[in-house]
Amino acid sequence: MRLFWKCTFCAVSAAVAVACGPVEPEKVFEPSYFDLPVPEYFPTLTNVPASNRLSEEGVRLGRHLFYDIRLSGSYRAEGMLSCASCHRQENAFECGLDNPRLDNGRMTGAAGLQTAHGMLPLINIAFNTRCFGWNGALEYPESNLETLIARTLVDSTEFAGTEQAIEQRIAGIPFYPPLFQEAFGSSEVTFDRIVSAIAQFVRTLVSSNSKFDRYMRGEAQLSPEEMRGYVLFTTEEGADCFHCHGGAGNVLFSTYDILVNGLDPQEAFTDPYDRYSVTGDPMDKGAYRIPTLRNIAYTAPYMHDGRFSTLGEVIDQYSENVFHSPYISPLMHHVNDNGVQLTASEKQCLEAFLLCLSDEEFIRNPDFSNPFVQDTVPAQAQVQAGKGVPGSRP
Ligand code: HEC
Ligand code: HEC
Repeated sequence: MRLFWKCTFCAVSAAVAVACGPVEPEKVFEPSYFDLPVPEYFPTLTNVPASNRLSEEGVRLGRHLFYDIRLSGSYRAEGMLSCASCHRQENAFECGLDNPRLDNGRMTGAAGLQTAHGMLPLINIAFNTRCFGWNGALEYPESNLETLIARTLVDSTEFAGTEQAIEQRIAGIPFYPPLFQEAFGSSEVTFDRIVSAIAQFVRTLVSSNSKFDRYMRGEAQLSPEEMRGYVLFTTEEGADCFHCHGGAGNVLFSTYDILVNGLDPQEAFTDPYDRYSVTGDPMDKGAYRIPTLRNIAYTAPYMHDGRFSTLGEVIDQYSENVFHSPYISPLMHHVNDNGVQLTASEKQCLEAFLLCLSDEEFIRNPDFSNPFVQDTVPAQAQVQAGKGVPGSRP
């Protein structure tokens, strides 16, 4: 019915145009396309699809949508949230331990329901060509970032919106249609365009200027303590982290494999959303996708259920608390010793190395910040202070 109306409208407007004489030449749609800048030692493969190339206009639109609490499509004050309510820049686009939406490791969405798992940060997502989410249910290339964002917007534990409500809400804000015009060649606001623009912005969130990166480029030296930590990280007889979390040979600091790393199964391997829930393979019980360790100092709480708050706790876990189960990954080589058994000074060095993965420029990059505010107050604080984004209250 709606489609029929649209077509009738097209026919009528075409007839009117003909009747009124010479038609204005159509403006050529020329967005400023650009290729994702790939840092020199990064993988060259990205998940940027041909159908959603990056353009300056698209990224600009996506950045506004990412930070706009009206995106929730909800008119209830408590239901208003943006991507940035959960993915905060100062936490490398994770939630942060002081996030008011964080409760017992999980986040609370627009409808007051809790997410199935803890958070994942948005770091170098454009280079992930394996799978998304803790259980890797969205596998590339069948699924891509666009798939994930579309689901996030309607998921009952996140935005809890409907495609139509979100479309209408954004279309009704006079600020937006011109931005859609610039990004997509017409001012029509559609759910797909909203998703595409946000995906473009998220793909620009590249972190490649940590101390470790500067070391890779020959611009900085690691201190003896950090270097010892790096050696521990990358040796089997040391802390043995590299099989899963990379290093110089895998600068994403994750292989994105999905496995069991020996956490105490507080849920007795019965999480209804683990890898097993995706594959049905009993060996996948309690398995989760390996997260990146980039910016790890900013992204607490840690693990799929947010059980740890500090890197010290994580290191103790791998050092002496590894839990033996039939499901444990064969890459956990030291499971028979309950872990890699590090000394206090080795733990200190390992943590010093992990801190070298912090990229301050990333969490302060003005291109990634809330475009609605000029100061540095985090978006969430603005919203709480009642300042919000323009017209943010229903
Ligand atoms: C209510 C909090 C919340 C909001 C709002 C939210 N997210 Fe998330 N996000 C999460 C959680 C929790 C996960 C981990 C989900 C899982 O795998 O179970 C996640 C995962 C992701 C991932 C996957 C990362 C990876 O490494 O696989 C991406 C990408 C993402 N979110 C982008 C977004 C975008 C874009 C928005 C806005 C449209 C958004 N999120 C809004 C909580 C949120
Ligand atoms: C066998 C593969 C494997 C090895 C080896 C391994 N990890 Fe992990 N790591 C994982 C997986 C899988 C997760 C997610 C587990 C979960 O949440 O259930 C993870 C999670 C983490 C996290 C939490 C990240 C976050 O964003 O929540 C940190 C930190 C971490 N690992 C550090 C290390 C360190 C340090 C080492 C070496 C001592 C190490 N890992 C060795 C697979 C591994």
